[in-house]
Amino acid sequence: MRVWITADVHHGNPGSKGVTRELAGHFLSNAERDDVLVLAGDIGEIDGIGLRECLGEFARFPGVKALVPGNHDLWTHPGSGQGTWHHYRAVLPRIAAEHGFQMLDVAPLRVALPHGGALGIAGSYGGYDFTMADVGALASDADRSEVLQAFRVGRFRTFVWSDYTFFWDRDGAFDLADFSRSCTAKLEQDVRGLQDDPAITAIAIITHTGGHIDVVRDHPLGLDKPLVANVWFHGVAGTVRIGEIAMESDKVRLVACGHTHHDREVLDEAGRCWINVGCNYSRKRWVAWDPAGGVQVSRWFGDAAAMW
Ligand SMILES: [Fe+2]
Ligand SMILES: [Fe+2]
Repeated sequence: MRVWITADVHHGNPGSKGVTRELAGHFLSNAERDDVLVLAGDIGEIDGIGLRECLGEFARFPGVKALVPGNHDLWTHPGSGQGTWHHYRAVLPRIAAEHGFQMLDVAPLRVALPHGGALGIAGSYGGYDFTMADVGALASDADRSEVLQAFRVGRFRTFVWSDYTFFWDRDGAFDLADFSRSCTAKLEQDVRGLQDDPAITAIAIITHTGGHIDVVRDHPLGLDKPLVANVWFHGVAGTVRIGEIAMESDKVRLVACGHTHHDREVLDEAGRCWINVGCNYSRKRWVAWDPAGGVQVSRWFGDAAAMW
């Protein structure tokens, strides 16, 4: 029994479609009926472009299918629809269900293991609340105030972070950190429910954003260097809350994410595997986790050398 995970297929991006198709074809010829597929966010693009089509690419997966949304899946143009909360709570779960996918943010999965016991799979968009950023490490008050201001408005030196535009609320300004805290509170509740369930013998947590600094640091393009950029990049890469939730449960064996578009894998002292799938706009791969046998990763599909 394996849990197949991929992330950041960005199927609404025209350059990604052929690569996703190749990746999906590989899943379909290797997966078995008791396997589980989880798409860990950034499946499509703004306003659901490519989302349904992408879920359709995985329709013939023989086992249970699940997903968590990424920030790009949560993007809608301001004024279209009813805002991000509604999109998250009502629209995305409905689209997932229509295509035979369980949105893990709504409810976790319980899957029987072949040699007894059961695997719980909890998941969430996760989001970010800037807690992964070590603002205190910055050398000057000017640097600190620059980064804190960037977190408030989403503008940082050479680029604008689009989440600040495409996450929105009809009733006023959107609070990205508050949204993340809501996501992780639900994740905590779900992981606790699995932890307290005697039938559950192992837990996987799958989020879009990261929960461990070692799976989001050292981007090969230097996105997290120099230090000021580092603090900014880490701030929007995830939240320490995901990591705390994972470490509060002794049944958690795997914590997987995407979002930063660079691959990382860490084994902690308790033997938990933390993995960042690392797909980007041009290259994709899958991760297959066997609760009894560890993690296997595929080759890159698409342009293996592409860094973004
Ligand atoms: Fe992405
Ligand atoms: Fe993302």
